[in-house]
Amino acid sequence: MDARIDEIADGIFRLSVRVDAIAPPAGFTFNHFLVLGDNPLLFHTGLRGMFPILREAVGRLIPPERLRWISFGHYEADECGAMNEWLAVAPRAEVAHGQTGCMVSLNDMADRAPRILQDGEVIDLGKGRRLRYIDTPHIPHGWDAGVLYEEASGTLLCGDLFTQLGDGPALTRSDIVGPAIAAEDLFRFSSLNPGMGRTIRGLAGIAPRTLALMHGPSFEGDCAAALQALANDYDARVSSMLAAA
Ligand SMILES: [Fe+2]
Ligand SMILES: [Fe+2]
Repeated sequence: MDARIDEIADGIFRLSVRVDAIAPPAGFTFNHFLVLGDNPLLFHTGLRGMFPILREAVGRLIPPERLRWISFGHYEADECGAMNEWLAVAPRAEVAHGQTGCMVSLNDMADRAPRILQDGEVIDLGKGRRLRYIDTPHIPHGWDAGVLYEEASGTLLCGDLFTQLGDGPALTRSDIVGPAIAAEDLFRFSSLNPGMGRTIRGLAGIAPRTLALMHGPSFEGDCAAALQALANDYDARVSSMLAAA
């Protein structure tokens, strides 16, 4: 197993690991994003068992001990399983997450105290790269869920949103909504709730230029339209469940 590395936006590298055993024959990808700067940030640590692969991959881009920030969408093994391995390798690194994630899990589970981010707070990485933290509770799952938006390149690190099967190109302009709907039908991974549409439309309002998916290709194109369509699909699912109740 090896990580494939692609630069999907200026200074943002996608480190992708394909796992054939999940949802065969399509397989499934786990994507981790290294944002360069004076203070580099890794979004998704990788599973604990993937740490040697990710460490080697990060090492192709920067000395791993230079990592300054470790962040992720929510507390789950594929998002943050190797958090403490990274903290051990990078002495200056801090885990950065929202208030809920820190209170509920990270204050206890992280080997060093995490940095609590308020909704809308910005981490300045230097070299013009600024990451804005946005709370998205329960979306697509996890009370502590949040996303990061890199303002200079207009890249939304959107975690499990738009999860899809298979191993496509690193960056696509093709439809990502249809494959996300198919994956939701298969996995039922989202915590359907009435607030989903509003929150996802809020992300559409940012009008990102690139969506960096954790499980799927990164997308460039009309990101606002894709987010609106995803919001509409979730709203329809919630409505039909309520109607059937
Ligand atoms: Fe997840
Ligand atoms: Fe994930």
